[in-house]
Amino acid sequence: MTQRVAILLSGGGSNMVSLVDSMTGDHPARPCLVLSNNAGAGGLEKARARGVPTAVVDHRPYGEDRSAFEAALNAVLADHAPDILCLAGFMRVLTGGFVQEWQGRMLNIHPSLLPKYRGLHTHARALAAGDAEAGCTVHEVTPELDEGPMLGQARVPALPGDTPDSLAARVLAEEHVLYPAVLRRFAMNDRTPILLP
Ligand code: GRF
Repeated sequence: MTQRVAILLSGGGSNMVSLVDSMTGDHPARPCLVLSNNAGAGGLEKARARGVPTAVVDHRPYGEDRSAFEAALNAVLADHAPDILCLAGFMRVLTGGFVQEWQGRMLNIHPSLLPKYRGLHTHARALAAGDAEAGCTVHEVTPELDEGPMLGQARVPALPGDTPDSLAARVLAEEHVLYPAVLRRFAMNDRTPILLP
């Protein structure tokens, strides 16, 4: 059966584009929703242009009440009945309750070679540490931030003269290859990690 995929984002949505564009032909999944906490997210327009339904749940009216925000997310998700959630630059920390509800069905992409550099500013931290390589990780989402079983990793060199931006661009290009590859496998119930290159 075709798997339904909802993609959650807060920003430009380049990973969302790579996921949506991959779900054609014999792919076992199709996009059913792009959901954002940010009405100004560039990814929403890109999703609409691809004919994917979009929705916005602004987190701000909920203040500190993350559970109420997540209840609103779940209400929208219920209308679209996704089998799989892909976090793709979704900049809200999710509570254990929400994560447990979706555990085993929710993926995230993080721009570091986890377990290195959980959280933000991953590229600056990799460069400050003098790392010779950097990369990205797709993992199942579990209640701890940027943890959970690794489903794929792509590595790139960190080059002399790199800035956080130049390294981020090199990593992002790999994100666009890795995330669709992992999703395709995951949608076929195959959790064997993909290691690139
Ligand atoms: C990516 O670097 C991703 O790894 C991180 O957030 C960024 C999202 O970029 N989680 P985009 O919105 O997909 O272009």
